[in-house]
Amino acid sequence: MPSIQYAFQRLAKDAVKLAKGVRVIGLGSGSSVTFIVRELSALPNKDSIEFIPTSLQIKIEAGRSHLRISDEAMIPDIDLVFDGADQIDSKFNMIKGGGGALLREKILISAAKKVVIVADESKFVKSFTRSVPIEVHPMARTVVTRTLSRIGAGVELRTLDKGYPFVTENGNLILDATLPSLTDPDKKEIELKRIPGVMEVGLFTRRPDVLYKAKKDGSFEVVST
Ligand code: A5P
Repeated sequence: MPSIQYAFQRLAKDAVKLAKGVRVIGLGSGSSVTFIVRELSALPNKDSIEFIPTSLQIKIEAGRSHLRISDEAMIPDIDLVFDGADQIDSKFNMIKGGGGALLREKILISAAKKVVIVADESKFVKSFTRSVPIEVHPMARTVVTRTLSRIGAGVELRTLDKGYPFVTENGNLILDATLPSLTDPDKKEIELKRIPGVMEVGLFTRRPDVLYKAKKDGSFEVVST
């Protein structure tokens, strides 16, 4: 039946072929990459691969798929990372962190030999239109909010349904910042990371090596980057 889910299932079968012969795989977080994890469980060589998760969400999925979980000691050897994205602009910059796993995702993506991103067609935009998740140390919440407001950003502390603050797996908070200008994501990432108390910024400027687009009609596309 044509649907985004069907498109993800089909693209996952194709994407996991990239895992042939690799030893260490990093797993981003979120619903899109979950399709990949489920498909990885069918790989004949899966027991010879070590998997590094970026969150409890994807760790649980990996456990259900009987993947061998490894830890940060293997990060320097990552062959491949599978991950999702919240938005991808026309130059293949990404906004990530909708699920709050941006810090760990950026560590894995920075270290990986190859980065594979899977996202549905609604995530592809000409220029960014959404807020940028910024992970901050709890002690820096108010001062970073003030600094961001001074550069013209609208800032919201991310909360759970009942209003409690969302706390990342690193014990930090997330500020979702609507920035006045995002024409140069590379420069903005550096500028924001210079603010003391900012642990990570959800602007990802490393171009993916492979980019999959899942479509509503049930098909998928490999976008050339
Ligand atoms: C996790 O913090 C994010 O970076 C995810 O990769 C991103 O939010 C995509 O998630 P979905 O695949 O669930 O849309």
